[in-house]
Amino acid sequence: MELKGIYFAGGCFWGVEHFFKGVTGVISTTPGYANGRFANPTYEQVYKDDTGFAETVRVEYNPAAVSLETLCRLFFMIIDPLSLNKQGEDCGTRYRTGVYYSSKADLPALEAAFAAEAERLGADPVTELGPLQCFYSAEEYHQDYLDKNPSGYCHLSLKTFAYLRVFEKVRMYLAEETDSVARMAEIAAIVHEGMKFFWTGFYRVAEESAAAGKHTDAGRPQLVLGPFQGPPACLRIGYGRGVCGTAWKEARTIVVPDVEQFPGHIACSSASKSEIVVPVFGPDGRVIAVLDIDSDRLATFDSEDAKWLELIVSL
Ligand code: SME
Repeated sequence: MELKGIYFAGGCFWGVEHFFKGVTGVISTTPGYANGRFANPTYEQVYKDDTGFAETVRVEYNPAAVSLETLCRLFFMIIDPLSLNKQGEDCGTRYRTGVYYSSKADLPALEAAFAAEAERLGADPVTELGPLQCFYSAEEYHQDYLDKNPSGYCHLSLKTFAYLRVFEKVRMYLAEETDSVARMAEIAAIVHEGMKFFWTGFYRVAEESAAAGKHTDAGRPQLVLGPFQGPPACLRIGYGRGVCGTAWKEARTIVVPDVEQFPGHIACSSASKSEIVVPVFGPDGRVIAVLDIDSDRLATFDSEDAKWLELIVSL
């Protein structure tokens, strides 16, 4: 097994290290200081913020178990790539974001990951991409900090770690399966169980239009219920109807904090209070299904759910 290494600066290294320890294929993680102006810095020196060093985690991984592309996509999930020298509450150049490589052969994959992120954001990340100039391991008490201090400070949320576990399960369970219904069924079950939602499922774009004469949607395209977890649900939804039909029509994720406030919301269950619908794109870029998740509490979903669920359905 030939291991590889990559260096991620993503704000406070305690949380970044803890996050990457949860990725299958990551063999070791080392928080430290990268790309500063002198040798063997201490935490106190770096903290002064005039040394050029960035809090950075060296991630050593087995490329047969996790690709550099996946690591980089996961890295972008835990940073705000448009925020300069500030991640969460942590400010300063030592908390700048960056990906530093020790092998130039990694550059094309990293450039592709940065380009994909720029497209997703509609703007260029301020995250640095460049060669590693130097790296010094942080002091022993910073190593595995959140394992040693489980209630210690972490700028990443519990939701982030829950979604990482879901993502990892989906990545492992689906690795060998090509059947799309089986994949949707497994994703629905993993997301539902992992995040404890009220209703989690897919509506697929139906091959045939609504039956003639049956109702007002006659002859129009429809969504049809696919694999799901939770109480029984509506079988079919028209194009542009409800949250699902709107997400399909507009080909974008829709977050609804209060279903009562969404014009045309289709209430399959009166217990559903808030909702998120994420489109699933086929290889030709057209919407082939939507992932619909309902909560029995108001305002359950935000941009973090949107970002993770978009990543999960892209698998
Ligand atoms: N509320 C959805 C319908 C599907 S159920 O939530 C499962 C909508 O308005 O599209």
